[in-house]
Amino acid sequence: MPTVLVMDHPLIKHKISLLRDEHTGTRDFRILVEEIAMLMGYEALRDLPIEEVEVKSPITASKQPMLSGKKLAVVPILRAGLGMVGGILALVPSAKVGHIGLYRDEETHQPHEYFCKLPENIDERLVILPDPMLATGGSAIQAVDFIKAKGCKSIKFMCIIAAPEGLEALRAAHPDIDIYVGSLDDRLNDDAYIVPGLGDAGDRIFGTK
Ligand code: PRP
Ligand code: URA
Repeated sequence: MPTVLVMDHPLIKHKISLLRDEHTGTRDFRILVEEIAMLMGYEALRDLPIEEVEVKSPITASKQPMLSGKKLAVVPILRAGLGMVGGILALVPSAKVGHIGLYRDEETHQPHEYFCKLPENIDERLVILPDPMLATGGSAIQAVDFIKAKGCKSIKFMCIIAAPEGLEALRAAHPDIDIYVGSLDDRLNDDAYIVPGLGDAGDRIFGTK
């Protein structure tokens, strides 16, 4: 049964509120995105398989739980997803990293792909797909379509802020993936921006515009 989880941890809520603040500058914005990604990753990776391995302490040998070596890939949706990668890699440093470049047309709000580079054997990996914003859902749906077309069966999408419209669209298009949401906001405005949201995540992370 796939997971759809909206975070309720007070640390995540507090940091997302700081992120929304229009006075939060690029440096703090980046730090917060990375911290939130790590806290969300802790929740999202709670079902990683473990196995019993013999560990010899200074006292004695015993069987102890260790990650069972499931192959992972973190595949951010460019640009804004890049800001979340460091937080996830802090938890799983040996994960491979791929990239999917999508931008939303400002008029039509449709996603356009401009780059894709994925780790080898992507079909054997658990793919973590971070993007801070799930607005109409178009970008996330296209990224998951793409990853699935490469044979991936195990996908976790992580976003910091989602609009109800985008969450519904992603669930309808891909009912078999796990979805982790930091905050489920009110709605989209006429420009397909999330309300209250935080503005343009890519511009705030990279200091553009
Ligand atoms: C933003 C965001 C998502 C997308 C969400 O990226 O990071 O990828 O919009 O919108 P959607 O759910 O309606 O598709 P954007 O296209 O602005 O590109 P950027 O990350 O390069 O700024
Ligand atoms: N992309 C963003 O960066 N912000 C939104 O509110 C919607 C799409």
